[in-house]
Amino acid sequence: MAATDTNLQENQGSHESRVFAPSAEFVAKATISGMPAYEKLCAEAAADYEGFWARLARENLDWQKPFTTTLDESDAPFYKWFADGQLNASYNCLDRNLTNGNADKTAIIFEADDGQSTRATYRELHERVCKFANGLRSRGIQKGDRVIIYMSMSIEAVAAMQACARIGATHSVVFGGFSAKSLHERIIDAGAVAVITADEQRRGGKSLPLKAIVDEALALGGCETIRNVIVYQRTGGNIDFTEGLDVWLHELVAKQPAECEPEWVGAEHPLFILYTSGSTGTPKGVQHSTGGYLLWCALTMKWTFDIKPDDVFWCTADIGWVTGHSYITYGPLLVGGTEIVFEGIPTFPNAGRFWDTIAKHKVSIFYTAPTAIRSLIKAADVDPSVHPKNYDLSSLRLLGSVGEPINPEAWMWYYNNVGGGRCPVVDTFWQTETGGHMITPLPGATPMVPGSCTLPLPGIMAAIVDEAGADVANGQGGILVVKRPWPSMIRTIWNNPERFKASYFPDELGGKYYLAGDGAIRNSDTTYFTITGRIDDVLNVSGHRMGTMEIESALVANPLVAEAAVVGRPDETTGESICAFVVLKQARPTGEEAKKLATELRNWVAKEIGPIAKPKEIRFGDNLPKTRSGKIMRRLLRVLAKGETITQDISTLENPAILDQLKEAS
Ligand code: WT7
Repeated sequence: MAATDTNLQENQGSHESRVFAPSAEFVAKATISGMPAYEKLCAEAAADYEGFWARLARENLDWQKPFTTTLDESDAPFYKWFADGQLNASYNCLDRNLTNGNADKTAIIFEADDGQSTRATYRELHERVCKFANGLRSRGIQKGDRVIIYMSMSIEAVAAMQACARIGATHSVVFGGFSAKSLHERIIDAGAVAVITADEQRRGGKSLPLKAIVDEALALGGCETIRNVIVYQRTGGNIDFTEGLDVWLHELVAKQPAECEPEWVGAEHPLFILYTSGSTGTPKGVQHSTGGYLLWCALTMKWTFDIKPDDVFWCTADIGWVTGHSYITYGPLLVGGTEIVFEGIPTFPNAGRFWDTIAKHKVSIFYTAPTAIRSLIKAADVDPSVHPKNYDLSSLRLLGSVGEPINPEAWMWYYNNVGGGRCPVVDTFWQTETGGHMITPLPGATPMVPGSCTLPLPGIMAAIVDEAGADVANGQGGILVVKRPWPSMIRTIWNNPERFKASYFPDELGGKYYLAGDGAIRNSDTTYFTITGRIDDVLNVSGHRMGTMEIESALVANPLVAEAAVVGRPDETTGESICAFVVLKQARPTGEEAKKLATELRNWVAKEIGPIAKPKEIRFGDNLPKTRSGKIMRRLLRVLAKGETITQDISTLENPAILDQLKEAS
C-alpha cells in the first residue's frame, strides 16, 4: 500500500493538449477500426465479463482440452482463468503455424551484434525447439521443474524458453546484466534444476562473460538442486567446463529427434517466473499462468500492434524483461508474425543502428523504450549523420513505446522523425505483473495525446482511487488500480503468497483492487490516463525497474558503510537516475577521497546487483535526515537529489543541520 511518504503529490501530470488522430487509411485497415469498434468491445466486456474473455480465449488459442469454467474467484485474490482447460504454449506458437500456411514463413530474423543476420522459418524453429525440448527431457528435466535461462539475445534463447514451455518446465529468465549474486539469489528462490546459458555474449563489439558468471553463482553454494548447466556456444571463448554438470547445447541436441510431443498443461500451470523489484525486500518472483497469459500476448499483438501477415515486427527489449517474454518469445509467434531478434546495442557501430536495421529488414512495427529514443535524439544532435532522416524508414507503419513515461518532446520527435508523421505511436502502460499491455492507444482508433497512455484496453477495469479505495474525480491525481481480475494478471509471488496479497491486494483498498504501484491522473475532458510515476520506493532507470531498498542493502553490505538511503531523481536521458546518500563507518570523506570512495561503492553495487543498479551519484554525510523516531525522510532526500531548495516543513526533523551537508557532492 502507498506509504504516506510517497511522491504522489510531487507529480502533477501533463497538461499536453495536442491531439493526433490516426489517419483514415490506418483506421480503414485496422483490426480495431475506429472508436466505435473499441467502445463495442468495452460494452461487450461490461455486459458479460466472463463471456467476453471466454469467447476471446476460444478464438485466439488452441486448446487440447477445452475449458468449461472461465473465471474462478473462490480463492480471491488467487484468481484462476480457464482452469480446467489444457494447452501448450509452444504448440500454440509453433505447431499451429505448420498447418496454417506459415510453415515456410520467416519466424525470426536474427540481427547479430556485428550486423550479420540469419533467419529461421516456423518449420526450422519448430525443429530446433523440439530437439532442444527432447534434449532437456533426456537430462531428466520435466514438467513443473524450474529452469533458469541466463543468455543474451539469440534464436537459441527464444528456443530455450519455448523448449521449457514445450515440456511444461517453468522458465525463469535472468537478464544477462545481473551479477553472480543476483543470479544465485534467483536460482535458490526458484529451486531451479538447470541453468541454460552461453559461453559469452556479444555486445557493442565486445565479448562479455556469461558461463563464468554462472560458475561464480554456483560456487556461492546452496545450489545443489542444479544438475545441468547447458551451454550455447556463441563466441567460442574460453570457459571452464565441469564434466557431468556442464553440457554443450550442440552436443545435447545433435542426436535428438525433430519431433517432440508437447506436454499438455492446465491453463493455470506456471509458464514462467520472472523476478522483479518491489519497494522492500528481495526481488519478487512474479508467477504467470499459461492460458491467460498467452491469450493476452496474442490479443495485444492484434489489438495494440494491429499485426498483419506482412508485417515485420521489432521489439528491441531483452528477453530478460517481461517485454521480451510477451513481445519477442510468445506474442509475435502466437500470431504467426515475422520478428527481429536483436543482439546488439543501439549505439554500435553507431547511433544509427536502429534506423539502419529498420531499413535493412523493412521493419513495419517498431517497439522501443523512451530512454533509447532520448539517447538517440541526443546522439543525432551531436552527429547529424545518425539522424533518422538519413535512413529509409518508409517501411514503418506503427511505433510503440514501453517501460516508462514518454515525455511529449521525445514523443513528438519519435512521431515526426522516425514515423514520418504518418505512424501512430502506441504508448503502452503495463508491468511485469500485468503480463501485457493495460492502458494504451489503439492505433486505428484512439486519438493520441503525447505523453498519455490514453485508455484501458477492452475488459481492463482500470481506475484511479484515493488511499481509502474511493474513486477520485477526473482531473484529480490518485492511485492506479484495476478493479476486476484479468486473464494475464500475476498469479502469485513464487514461494510467497502472503507477499503477493500484501503487495497487490492490500486491505486498505478493500483487498479486491489490484494495486499497480503507480500514481495516475485522468484528463477531465478526454478521460485519458497519464501515469505520474511510482507511488512506492521503486525506481525506473532506463526502463529498468529497481527497488531503492535493494540498492541500500547492497551498499550497507560493504564493510565501509554504516547507513545508506537511495532515492530517484529525474534524468533527461534515463528517465530517473539513482542518487545514494551514504554514511560511512569512518569520518565523512571529502574531495578526492570522497570521489575515490564513491567509485569504489558504485563498482561494489555493480558486483552485488549488476551494472544497471550503479548509483549515478553518491553523497556522503555524517548522518541522514531522520525524524525523532529514527525514520529516514526520503522526501527531503528527493528534493536534495534534484538540487532544489527544501521548502517543506522540517520541524519533525531530528538533525536539520545535516541537510546542508547533503546538498551537493562531498
Ligand atoms: C513500471 C513497470 C511495461 C513492461 C516493461 C516494464 C512504468 C511502464 C509505462 C508507460 C508510464 C510506464 C510504470 C510501471 N511504466 N510503461 N507507458 N508510461 N510508465 O515493466 O519493469 O515491471 O515496470 O514501469 O511505473 O509500474 P516493469
